[in-house]
Amino acid sequence: MAKDSVMKTLTAEEDGPRMLSLVSHKLKTPLSIINGYSEAILSQSAKEKFSPFTAKALEEINKQGTKLCSLVDKLLFFNKVESLQPKDLAKKTLNLKNLAKGCANDALSHEEETPAVTATSSIAKRGTFIEIDCPPTLEIKADEELMGFLLEELISNAIKFNNKAEKIIKVQCAHHGDSISVSVRDYGAGIRPQDVNKIFERFYQVDDYFTGQIDGWGLGLCMVQKIVELHNGSINVISDRGLGSIFTVSLPVL
Ligand SMILES: Nc1ncnc2c1ncn2[C@@H]1O[C@H](COP(=O)(O)OP(=O)(O)OP(=O)(O)O)[C@@H](O)[C@H]1O
Ligand SMILES: [Mg+2]
Repeated sequence: MAKDSVMKTLTAEEDGPRMLSLVSHKLKTPLSIINGYSEAILSQSAKEKFSPFTAKALEEINKQGTKLCSLVDKLLFFNKVESLQPKDLAKKTLNLKNLAKGCANDALSHEEETPAVTATSSIAKRGTFIEIDCPPTLEIKADEELMGFLLEELISNAIKFNNKAEKIIKVQCAHHGDSISVSVRDYGAGIRPQDVNKIFERFYQVDDYFTGQIDGWGLGLCMVQKIVELHNGSINVISDRGLGSIFTVSLPVL
């Protein structure tokens, strides 16, 4: 019967990722239309002279639409990363300093692109400094898209879970014998000892009363861990509540 076959399709274990991908793709089209129209209307605001209420409502629609779009994109990427095996990696030699610079710029610009930016958070944004300390010739052999995601995710978290007016993020790369380490340090909220192991679980987010932030799915670090494993590496966290965190990824030299 048709009904039975639908039930069977939706409950089969291997259909979980397919369903996630299908739902995410189905959400993308209407979301892109909502965002496109709200942006088009917003661009008319100088001519149309909207009332303060209409202007605020439009900005909010655009802000939430953009946020939803990036949530759906992350879900789609999660689905892809989950199914990857080491043989699927497109490894090539990458200059670590250039990669780190690009990821730091992307993490900052993604923060700025969010139309949610209020006068206050713009000031905090202008106070975000990312220092990169990396030998100019240091190279790794890795999948560029995945390693770029990993670094941007760690830097974005360092910015996001940080309520300091002046945010200092330090990215440090070094070569030690047969491994290369990349660490991302922040002086933000820090993580309680009881949460440190849980933050790598899918969908796990620390209570927002503690970090003051709960945006996202709680999927970033789960993907970071998978990417590290795909590259035969390891990840380590040192964190102190209220003092900040250091996430260190070690990769074998190839
Ligand atoms: N640098 C950090 N400082 C303090 N807490 C952190 C830091 N990085 C991660 N966390 C905590 O670990 C949780 C899981 O992080 P993860 O990156 O997986 O999810 P997220 O950033 O909340 O959402 P997503 O990455 O899906 O957008 C976060 O919700 C946060 O509570
Ligand atoms: Mg994250």
